[in-house]
Amino acid sequence: MTLVQRAVVLVMVVMAAVQVSYAAVHKVGDSAGWTILGNVDYKKWAAPKNFQVGDTIIFEYNAQFHNVMRVTHAMYKTCNASSPIATFSTGNDSIKITNHGHHFFFCGVPGHCQAGQKVDINVISVSAATAAAPTPTPAPSSPSSSLATPSANVPAPSPNNATPLIVLKGLFGTMGLAMAVLALFSSYA
Ligand SMILES: *[C@@H]1O[C@H](CO)[C@@H](O)[C@H](O)[C@H]1NC(C)=O
Ligand SMILES: *[C@@H]1O[C@H](CO)[C@@H](O)[C@H](O)[C@H]1NC(C)=O
Repeated sequence: MTLVQRAVVLVMVVMAAVQVSYAAVHKVGDSAGWTILGNVDYKKWAAPKNFQVGDTIIFEYNAQFHNVMRVTHAMYKTCNASSPIATFSTGNDSIKITNHGHHFFFCGVPGHCQAGQKVDINVISVSAATAAAPTPTPAPSSPSSSLATPSANVPAPSPNNATPLIVLKGLFGTMGLAMAVLALFSSYA
């Protein structure tokens, strides 16, 4: 193998790994899915996740008993299902994240949000994620605070600003893997 061929392999491995880390798919509740059974703690489920623009959120549930509503922060806090931003009801809803900020969802069936069937998908910018990494605790905010303004009503900001940083982050994260593959190829050369 020539040096050029090795370099091509290296680049391809890095590209593939970056692609994978960039567009993650998150199934809400993991194997439990979207339910009121078993006291699934969706706050706990979401807490360690590093949601990013471009990721897909999947809600899987029995459409006879549940749905998914995207709502404002105020509606989320009070479980008010009177005017959702969007309603999903296929039983297997894929929602692509297109902007930063909080994305509030709950089940609009009466009583279900109160029973805990609600989740806050907080998509933080990459630089903020790095800075806030040791303390992922979501800060509670009063309805009058600026945080109460949901990102949901705002048109998606261009993800262009964040993309180079995400790629860079993925690149560093997968450099070890690329090096290992390179070493493997070298030993056969
Ligand atoms: C629910 O939200 C609607 C629209 O924002 C509002 O008119 C209504 O008063 C709210 N209901 C409760 C119980 O807060
Ligand atoms: C839900 O959709 C995903 C793809 O978006 C698919 O992989 C999965 O098998 C589906 N689950 C069910 C229960 O249909």
